[in-house]
Amino acid sequence: MSAKTKVAILISGRGSNMRTLIQAAKQTDYPAEIIGVFSNRADAAGLEFAKAEGIATAVISQKDFDSRESFCEALDAQLEDWGTELICLAGYMRIHSDAFAQKWIGKMLNIHPSLLPSFPGLHVHQQALDAGVKISGATVHEVIPELDAGPPVLQAAVPVLDSDTAETLAARILKVEHQIYPLALKQYIEKRGNNDTAAAEQASLIWPQ
Ligand code: GAR
Repeated sequence: MSAKTKVAILISGRGSNMRTLIQAAKQTDYPAEIIGVFSNRADAAGLEFAKAEGIATAVISQKDFDSRESFCEALDAQLEDWGTELICLAGYMRIHSDAFAQKWIGKMLNIHPSLLPSFPGLHVHQQALDAGVKISGATVHEVIPELDAGPPVLQAAVPVLDSDTAETLAARILKVEHQIYPLALKQYIEKRGNNDTAAAEQASLIWPQ
């Protein structure tokens, strides 16, 4: 059996997507092992779950650094210390330095709660409601230096209802986020194994099936 890919997860808060990745990685045939959880916030709720699962955690605050570059260098040192081969951003709300993003191209995934390229950035669900779209969803994508812009690995769509608020839409999308992130990570690793260019083939899911 081939070795599992060493994955570090970066969070800033609740960590519900992190949980689904940790749970998935417990399966013996899952191709990733979660070797560390990093947060830029000491109060990120997800850290407690990771610790309780026996996973290494680290907290480094950007407030202790005078530049984005120096903060990202410290983050990078921690990731290298863990032997990280692939990064999963899971509600990690910091923009990377260009050097960090360039270094990890092809080795870093993110989940975003819209059908990118629609609605990047913040206040994503309100953006969708304001635009009047009838379908929204979630995207797992490769991370490139430009924000929320890398090639999609996997997307899932959900309906937007006339009665939706940003909160109800967020809750519907979060459910599919939890479905697609473990699947996307698995597919991404398996494709990388067969194809050194790490180019993700497009895949899509419509929920509910
Ligand atoms: C998720 O909805 C994720 O898609 C979003 O933050 C939430 C984190 O929830 N990420 C972004 O908006 C990144 N641009 P979680 O901490 O419970 O996984």
